[in-house]
Amino acid sequence: MADITNTFAGIKSPNPFWLASAPPTDKAYNVERAFRAGWGGVVWKTLGEEGPPLVNVNGPRYGAIWGADRRLLGLNNIELITDRDLYVNLREIKQVKKDWPDRAMVVSIMVPCEEAAWKAILPLVEETGADGIELNFGCPHGMSERGMGSAVGQVPEYIEMVTRWCKANTRMPVIVKLTPNITDIRFPARAAHAGGADAVSLINTVSSITSVNLDNFSPEPSIDGKGSHGGYCGPAVKPIALNMVAEIARDAETRGLPISGIGGITTWRDAAEFLALGAGNVQVCTAAMTYGFKIVSEMIEGLQNWMDAKGHASLDDVIGRAVPNVTDWQYLNLNYVTKAKIDQDMCISCGRCHIACEDTSHQAITQEVDGVRRFEVIDEECVGCNLCVNVCPVENCITMEPLATGETDKRTGEKVSGDYGNWTEHPNNPSRVAAE
Ligand SMILES: Cc1cc2nc3c(=O)[nH]c(=O)nc-3n(C[C@H](O)[C@H](O)[C@H](O)COP(=O)(O)O)c2cc1C
Ligand code: SF4
Ligand code: SF4
Repeated sequence: MADITNTFAGIKSPNPFWLASAPPTDKAYNVERAFRAGWGGVVWKTLGEEGPPLVNVNGPRYGAIWGADRRLLGLNNIELITDRDLYVNLREIKQVKKDWPDRAMVVSIMVPCEEAAWKAILPLVEETGADGIELNFGCPHGMSERGMGSAVGQVPEYIEMVTRWCKANTRMPVIVKLTPNITDIRFPARAAHAGGADAVSLINTVSSITSVNLDNFSPEPSIDGKGSHGGYCGPAVKPIALNMVAEIARDAETRGLPISGIGGITTWRDAAEFLALGAGNVQVCTAAMTYGFKIVSEMIEGLQNWMDAKGHASLDDVIGRAVPNVTDWQYLNLNYVTKAKIDQDMCISCGRCHIACEDTSHQAITQEVDGVRRFEVIDEECVGCNLCVNVCPVENCITMEPLATGETDKRTGEKVSGDYGNWTEHPNNPSRVAAE
């Protein structure tokens, strides 16, 4: 059986699945049940500074986007950080860590952007015996208007400064949680690295309005007729998160910086993809909120089964394996030619592929052959874009077949070259570097 024990930024856990800082990790009652279900670690719901607890709205705090089968695809929230007393949280953290010493206990923190505020809270968290801290520079709503969360995460200089304060004032590993609400994720990651962070985690939620009520014209969730932007998460944000993780993993300036991958992870496969793109472990929020803590057993089993089937003995065999295959567009092989192929036995003649290809300008799929309704690819027109594969309701009914070296591409009339050739050297590129 594959070994999925994990060490992330020096923090050990029996598996790479942590619960992200959010409602599932906001109290001992939850975290204990999560540990019993098998989660390898948690990042406790973000703690704020000492004083009167924060106040959340008392109306709806979620908005959502669903697929056609009403499965939750995206979740939007306007919840703040913990609204429970700081000392109650600290007591519970200490007790849970004592009772579950083999699980990772990381505490998320967000206090004002002043050194004194960080200096005050760090020893309190350290005293609980927690394994590390995560700096919440990501929350895009409510707290950002108070100069915290993404208001800090959007300014690399602040990230570096606060990270430095934390490193100077605690022995605990410091994980910096990044906001995706920024143009280029490499800059905040580099700033965290420069400040001495032991790791980064990403993504926090994406600023969003999920819908508008067309009767009263209020954005949802509606609080007495008004709405404000929230933070978007769940399966819909996974592609954004994967790209950001990969961007950091392949950036020479942050190479080797551990990354905790977060965003839309629902299955073992999602988790494996994050690991392959350079994440050292993963964190999950929406999937646990939607399906409950027990989903972790499927994640663990699925990951182990896949690793066994592929001969990956430990997570080190998987982590970062896809990073060398992430490149810039200009380096993609332009001599790689594919054509769509329709399996006529599987085709249900719905016609979606024809409409998509016809109206997307390639006109490469018939709807009639010899007076009979039939969907066939016209190789002379097919550019190999694979739109038809993506709109076809029957999985694997349409496949993309690469042409072999020497075969003639009926669209261009040219023979397929076996050589690698990219845009940087293409004759049509006005700024090409001539290959000698
Ligand atoms: C209701 C809710 C509350 C959240 N609260 C926090 C928080 O207090 N601190 C934090 O760092 N992230 C918070 N998050 C963000 C999650 O930790 C996570 O980064 C995000 O949801 C993306 O992961 P997911 O797609 O698995 O949900 C919250 C998310 C949700 C849905
Ligand atoms: S791959 Fe693209 S061009 Fe070819 S048949 Fe499919 S949709 Fe049309
Ligand atoms: S979309 Fe798929 S099932 Fe529908 S006609 Fe095209 S190939 Fe057949």
